[in-house]
Amino acid sequence: MKGSIHMSENKGTYYISTPIYYPSSNLHIGHTYCTVMADAMARFKRLQGYDVMFLTGTDEHGQKIQTLADKKGVTPQQYVDEVVAGIRDLWKTMEISYDDFIRTTEDRHVKRVQELFMRMYRKGDIYKGQYEGWYCTPCESFWTEAQLNDGRCPDCGRPVTKAKEEAYFFRMSKYADALLKIFRENPEFLEPETRRNEMISFVEQGLEDLCISRSTFDWGIPVPVDEKHVIYVWLDALSNYITALGWPDDPEKYERYWPADCHLVGKEIVRFHSLIWPAMLMSADLPLPKQIRGHGWLLLGGEKVSKSKAAKGRDVIDPVVLIDRYGIDALKYFLLREYTFGQDGMFTNEVMLRRLNYDLANDLGNLVSRTVSMIEKYNGGIVPDLTEAGKCVPGEDGINYDEQLEEIAVGAAARVEKQMNEFRFNLALEEIWVLVRRANKYIDETMPWDLAKHETQKARLDNVLHNLAEAIRIISILIHPYMHTTSEAIRKQMGLWYADVTWEDAQVFEMMCGEQVKKGKAIFPRLDIEKELGELYALGAKAAAEKGDTDIPLELKDEIEYDDFDKLDLRVGTIIEAEKHPKADKLLVFQVKMGTEKRQIISGVSEYFKPEDCVGKKVVVVANLKPRKLRGLESKGMILFADHDVDGKTRYEFVTTVAEDGNSVE
Ligand code: MSP
Repeated sequence: MKGSIHMSENKGTYYISTPIYYPSSNLHIGHTYCTVMADAMARFKRLQGYDVMFLTGTDEHGQKIQTLADKKGVTPQQYVDEVVAGIRDLWKTMEISYDDFIRTTEDRHVKRVQELFMRMYRKGDIYKGQYEGWYCTPCESFWTEAQLNDGRCPDCGRPVTKAKEEAYFFRMSKYADALLKIFRENPEFLEPETRRNEMISFVEQGLEDLCISRSTFDWGIPVPVDEKHVIYVWLDALSNYITALGWPDDPEKYERYWPADCHLVGKEIVRFHSLIWPAMLMSADLPLPKQIRGHGWLLLGGEKVSKSKAAKGRDVIDPVVLIDRYGIDALKYFLLREYTFGQDGMFTNEVMLRRLNYDLANDLGNLVSRTVSMIEKYNGGIVPDLTEAGKCVPGEDGINYDEQLEEIAVGAAARVEKQMNEFRFNLALEEIWVLVRRANKYIDETMPWDLAKHETQKARLDNVLHNLAEAIRIISILIHPYMHTTSEAIRKQMGLWYADVTWEDAQVFEMMCGEQVKKGKAIFPRLDIEKELGELYALGAKAAAEKGDTDIPLELKDEIEYDDFDKLDLRVGTIIEAEKHPKADKLLVFQVKMGTEKRQIISGVSEYFKPEDCVGKKVVVVANLKPRKLRGLESKGMILFADHDVDGKTRYEFVTTVAEDGNSVE
């Protein structure tokens, strides 16, 4: 490679956090969304030369966890230890590059939360009183009667419980004006704007003092001045952003990284982060985070997919299963590319698979495999140098393809950076894909296979191959924060395995020369979408059934009217003889007695039932079905059989209800 490897200069610090997750159960794809965004941002900033602190963790106290542990018959600590191990495994599987993982049950956290409480207490901002109101346990939030929505939690819509207990209160109301001032004077403090407006109107409606202790259960951090109480779980949890930095007793990291550059949180917890957390910090005379960004939700739930094949089931939302099938990078790419920050978006397996096929297998995968193949075929696998003689001579259309490609390639980094600064991950990736698609188009425009036919065009062919290699090298850097494994796989194929990935190198075009390329496995194999969906739905339905979820909608034929049903003449019969069909392995031949009549009915059920087990069974028969011949034997009617029914596909059942032979069962 020509030129030097540019080392990124140190640009200062960058501190980003995710919410700390409740270890109430395993995380689903919705939870991974925020962590994937934070990871991409942390990697992006590191690549740009920032000294990054990326924090995540688990929020382990509170009534919800205590109740779950009680139900399971284990201690809360045992309960959270198990779930937290699973969460850590998930982040490991997803190669999440966090710098610290804080658990709120750790000593380092507990003692610092108590210290923060004491600072607020000494300030005169905490007093004892009587709480009377409502509590939403899943959200761990207090509500007044007036705030409830139809008697339910206004955030999650679930039922609330009445709470009446002695408690400590935080003088939140005192900070209402200061909060409004922050929102108005620093609009960037809370993004997006819709959330900011919501918070402004929330505060304008009047801020009540906040109940910050509980005494009806004990799974929490003791209130230092009154051990009968535990600190309200949100006060405990929010503090993690500074306790993890060692505040106040081990302040090296705190001084280096605080205030945080961004707390990334889901929209329903913006209120806690942009009102309670800043008020707590103001009370303790500590600086506020620079920004809170609220993202939207992934809406989960089975969507109708294909009328034809796949039985309607449940989308798979377990990230581990998805990663197992499609890889980490595919999942991360999808989450970052598909959704617009701040808005909700529907998650379905189908949308995901289509996105993977179009963008990764077709656009990116093809670009790399076509280029590597051509360099191998036309230049012995060596990336050629650029020559004057090989430069593009614009044709009739006047377009200089080389210049166009180079311009888009070297300008991409700045465009990506601009989008990333606004947390527009989807548009940042789109900027990269503008280059991917432009490079694919460049192949079609320059037609290297045609140039290769003429010895006189060798210099031109070399330049074309060189330019493609440059474009791919730049792409490999640009995608690194989002898909580092893929980036490395591409760099290996391009003979760039030895070079560091630096952001500066993405802004220079002429670096490659003499690298040995080597075709590897397809970067992303093309997926057979119908087949994948069928398999995913079966897995989704199985997982739902295992969880005891029996309400899985089935893919059914069009509804029928009662009159249609009434055309069926259903009778109860008894199987009196059963044997294998002499000419067809799948068929069984039954003699069925229905009242006065005995008749022969043939069914394709030999894989489910042994003939001898059927004799004596009562079954329902569609008695007026037009007779037909099956492999030479007549069948008059249809028996409604059954097997187990987990997937909802089997439609027939053994009828055990006793009814008079031959009587109608209607
Ligand atoms: N423990 C609190 C956060 C304390 S931070 C000081 C909590 N935990 S949570 O596990 O319930 O949620 C963590 C995050 O996951 C929230 O930001 C929430 O918005 C996010 N998500 C949970 N389901 C989600 C989707 N379906 N889609 C996107 N994000 C989702 O709240």
